[in-house]
Amino acid sequence: MVKVISIANRKGGVGKTTTAVNIATAMAAIGKNVLILDMDPQGNATTSLGINKNKCLFSTYDLMISNCKIEDAIIKTDIKKFDILPSAPALAAAEIELSDVDKREYILKNALNTLDNKYDYVLIDCPPSLNLITLNALVSSDSVIVPLQSEFLALEGLADLVKNINTIKRNFNPKLEI
Ligand SMILES: Nc1ncnc2c1ncn2[C@@H]1O[C@H](COP(=O)(O)OP(=O)(O)O)[C@@H](O)[C@H]1O
Ligand SMILES: [Mg+2]
Repeated sequence: MVKVISIANRKGGVGKTTTAVNIATAMAAIGKNVLILDMDPQGNATTSLGINKNKCLFSTYDLMISNCKIEDAIIKTDIKKFDILPSAPALAAAEIELSDVDKREYILKNALNTLDNKYDYVLIDCPPSLNLITLNALVSSDSVIVPLQSEFLALEGLADLVKNINTIKRNFNPKLEI
């Protein structure tokens, strides 16, 4: 059974992308099949893996907006057993474009359900906000890792995030664990 893990925090620069890429690399190194979904329009995970986000045929934007098949958008990285679904700057507009779409919280979950058991782990690198993209990630996940800096003001953001995660647990995804 595939395990889906989101890496989320509404603050930027706290190590989400670094954590996602390094955990995925470590998992691939011990023989697990891993997929990263780059859900941040900035595309730092995509760039970190040496992929030009402006030259990808499909991206997480197409997955969210145009019913693109997930297998068509997945790219192999140079690391064995490690694939990525790249991001594109257009993803920043997805929330607005999806504003009148029915069941828009479940788009990513439905796409991941078509993956069969090709991967042991799917890691979702979330954008630095609690928007519809992050909601889709958390609705799709078994668990969420929250990287944060050990400073006082980081706790304010964390309290909000925990509240949000609990709301998502209640309304959309009871199995979600921090
Ligand atoms: N565990 C860590 N210790 C020190 N620096 C880190 C750590 N994780 C990430 N960084 C650095 O912090 C910066 C922001 O990391 P990044 O992964 O891009 O954060 P985010 O995805 O949350 O915006 C980068 O320069 C990265 O190299
Ligand atoms: Mg990032």
